[in-house]
Amino acid sequence: MSTTIDPTVAAPPEPPLSELPPGSRLPPLAQVAMIARSPIGSALKLHARYGEPFTMRVPGFGPSVVFSSPQLVRQVVTGRPDVFHAGLANRPLSAVLGRWSLLTLDGRPHLQQRKLLLPPFHGERLRAYGELIRELSEREAAIWPLDTPFRVDERMQRLTLEVILEVVFGISDETRKDALRRLLPPLVESSRHVVFWGKAANFDFGPIRLRETFERRRDAVDELLLAEIHDRRRVPAESLAARTDILSMLVGATHEDGSPMGDGELRDELMTLVMAGHETTATALTWAIDLLLRNPVVLARMRAAGPDGDDDYVNAVCQEILRIRPVVPFVGRVITEPVVIGDRQYPTGVGLIASIGLTHHREDVFPSPGVFRPERFLGESEVPSYGWLPFGGGVRRCIGASFAQFELATILRVLVRSPVRLANRRPEPIRATGVTLVPGRGVKLVRERV
Ligand code: HEM
Repeated sequence: MSTTIDPTVAAPPEPPLSELPPGSRLPPLAQVAMIARSPIGSALKLHARYGEPFTMRVPGFGPSVVFSSPQLVRQVVTGRPDVFHAGLANRPLSAVLGRWSLLTLDGRPHLQQRKLLLPPFHGERLRAYGELIRELSEREAAIWPLDTPFRVDERMQRLTLEVILEVVFGISDETRKDALRRLLPPLVESSRHVVFWGKAANFDFGPIRLRETFERRRDAVDELLLAEIHDRRRVPAESLAARTDILSMLVGATHEDGSPMGDGELRDELMTLVMAGHETTATALTWAIDLLLRNPVVLARMRAAGPDGDDDYVNAVCQEILRIRPVVPFVGRVITEPVVIGDRQYPTGVGLIASIGLTHHREDVFPSPGVFRPERFLGESEVPSYGWLPFGGGVRRCIGASFAQFELATILRVLVRSPVRLANRRPEPIRATGVTLVPGRGVKLVRERV
């Protein structure tokens, strides 16, 4: 694929609200503030008030129509890729991820990049990292402070960043690794701000300059990524082929016309894998620890499972964690021609949202949805197809899904052995930041003496 052309699709004009289903009349900024404060609660309220579907408006996006029943959600996420554009819906991420990112491309360019990225994620390949992930988790748990409360979200972000640095980058230069350890977390935070606040992030609020801070942090990380890419290109072919990290596989991969991936493509996909794979997994782990410590029966069975026993139960626990706290609460597609979903036609330019958070909390899909019960996924009752979709679906389904579930299970099996308790029994508030649902207080733990 030539790297001199712009592969992104032009956004169609927004349709008038009068052609869309009813929804909140609050201004877009007020709607985003409402979602930030109570993402699942506000979706449930809007659903109760307006039914399915309802329309929402948030800054940076055109008007969006929200679906939540498995049948309609399936139509949204598996719609024809030349009409249902996820890249257009993800466009606000391109400031961070660049124009070659798998997340922001559509159509043929998307499929071409996806073809290059799928083999490194395929099947059992990444399971070879199991031992390393266990070691990193043990090392992390061993340094949790005794007797003083600490935030588990920060710890999990550090841990999953280590995993990404090994699995995706395979960096061996310790100085560069240290610089990325230092620079990536603030960049992730800045990216969240510019994505969440859209155009509002361009304004300076006194010393708070969201866009400027973000660009400075991004440029510093880019310099390191490009240096790593250049070094990796100099590795002899046989040594490169023997390496198991994703960057090495991508450096050795070729497009259909035989050309290698350009520096810009590699940079954008590396950034995409960090952004899509690091905070999401860390957040799922943080929620997991919170939920397990509030459900002692489940925790006891997880402890009894040990490092590799009771796979079905451990997998059911991970599924239930991702159901009740879906880290990515929605996925979107912008349509570039009119389509029919259910019994209604939608105009060109509208965003169609599959609300994962709402689907997972519908009483008719998961009875008593607020109750944490892994047995739901042990054949107790059938989960409808597209009733559980924490990784989205169709040709855009998360390419890290099986690795993320493996990582989640492997790390949890280690961490449940740690003698910790919640510092605070009050329920952890669910907050929306950027594109993820995070625990509002970061889940504070106290490690006890044994
Ligand atoms: C618990 C962890 C994770 C969750 C909940 C999650 C969730 C998602 C969701 C909902 C999507 C959008 C799917 C759609 O539009 O239908 C997605 C896409 C994606 N995810 Fe993940 N993800 C996780 C971990 C990872 C990891 C570990 C990686 C890689 C290291 C990764 C890489 C990606 C990429 C590259 C895409 C874009 C796929 C495309 O557009 O073709 N994710 N993820």
